[in-house]
Amino acid sequence: MSIYQTKLLPWEDQTNNTMFNTDTYKRRREVLQQNIQVKGILLFLGNIENPINFADNASHFRQDSTFLYYFGIQQPHLAAIIDLDEHKTIVFGDEMSMDAIVWMGRQETLKEKCEKAGVVETRPYADLAIYLATAMSVKRNIHYLPPYQSFNKILLSELLHISIVDFKPSVPMIQAIVAQREIKEAQEITQIEEALKVSNQMHLLAMRMAKPGVKEYEIVSAIQNVAGSHNCELAYNSIVTINGGILHNHYKMNTLQSGKLLLNDSGCETPMGYASDLTRTYPVDKTFTPEQRDLYNVVLNSFEGAKAELKAGVKYKNVHLKACEILAEGLIDLGFMKGNAQDAVANHAHTMFFQCGLGHMMGLDVHDMEDLGEQYVGYTAEEPKDTKQFGIKSLRLGKELKAGHVLTVEPGIYFIPELIEMWEAEKKYTEFINYDKVKQFAHFGGIRIEDNFLIKDNGYQYLGPELIRTVAEIEDYKSNY
Ligand code: GLY
Ligand code: MN
Ligand code: MN
Repeated sequence: MSIYQTKLLPWEDQTNNTMFNTDTYKRRREVLQQNIQVKGILLFLGNIENPINFADNASHFRQDSTFLYYFGIQQPHLAAIIDLDEHKTIVFGDEMSMDAIVWMGRQETLKEKCEKAGVVETRPYADLAIYLATAMSVKRNIHYLPPYQSFNKILLSELLHISIVDFKPSVPMIQAIVAQREIKEAQEITQIEEALKVSNQMHLLAMRMAKPGVKEYEIVSAIQNVAGSHNCELAYNSIVTINGGILHNHYKMNTLQSGKLLLNDSGCETPMGYASDLTRTYPVDKTFTPEQRDLYNVVLNSFEGAKAELKAGVKYKNVHLKACEILAEGLIDLGFMKGNAQDAVANHAHTMFFQCGLGHMMGLDVHDMEDLGEQYVGYTAEEPKDTKQFGIKSLRLGKELKAGHVLTVEPGIYFIPELIEMWEAEKKYTEFINYDKVKQFAHFGGIRIEDNFLIKDNGYQYLGPELIRTVAEIEDYKSNY
């Protein structure tokens, strides 16, 4: 018997523990085929390893999440089809060449990996073009998803003989996948909670490290180390910043200073690809200043108020608006805003402080299924997204919640000096905004509190071990370090 055919030794197996059981993938593909109302071929493109600065120096490989969901195989350069008419599933990919074995070591064969995914038919990657060309020659429909990696855009363009600007991803395929992926299975919740256990440690370590003189990048590096020591990756680039007013701030060269807040938005993903997304904001010092505490409590009240609204049947857009109203009430009490909170929100005046949305779906992607299109993931055809209005146009999720949805709740207050200056010059919302007071806080930064929830019929389940959140809890924790 050739060495090729012998079973892998334990230390040769590079795919350990990164798949659910075979039935999971078979069942998911079965449900998809039952739910989809069209004929033809469903095409799934896996991801490749993206070169960083030359071909052999690639960034960390991350499989496409839809491919992971239906096939579970974490290997670059794969594609798959489900032939809806012939009830056939084929994975296209190449077994390792001797050259590949020399450089990368022997691994489970593609055939073996496919067996774990319940797929019996595998073909060489090059055969995909032949399969699709044959199908197209008899005018069969090829359903595909919106590609986001450049390689897959070019590949798809070549396979289907259409230019990249003319892609028409399959709406029925997207809708069927969203309907399935948005309802999380119990084993997926377990994965998300695993990610949250690790993320909690990432956040507690950052809190312990946050002291005057420490660099933001030192904390980022420590966070990465916690994730890595649990065999997890970051689910997105961490936002660890004393300029929390910048929503997605990846700059990390600042030195932490007394009197500033530190915002840490960090989450990790498990080896199976499930994400967490947590934010905490706290003083660099051991205690909040009175101004920091007051503004923090406005965000915390908004978080608690939004959380209390969560349950199946509620529109997330209304949860967002409730959170905005509580923010506006708090800002009126503190003198940053004036007038009536409901009127302020109806007129969008609160977007001076809260320019984004309250949250998003989460799962195999930190913004779950964002590649499939927000109009399908976060909204419905009957109630589409408002893509124009500042503030609400950044709300990724607006539709009615269902039991099984997993989402984030992440209200915030952000002072953006340029926005303050511009709107004051334009005399915008002068009936709701106290510019004299707001200007004094132009460089205050930002506060965000973010946690992850599972929607239930009558409420919600807080996911993961609860991470300290109140002023008292944070000050008590920091007093020990
Ligand atoms: N971590 C990115 C976000 O909160 O959406
Ligand atoms: Mn988030
Ligand atoms: Mn986040």
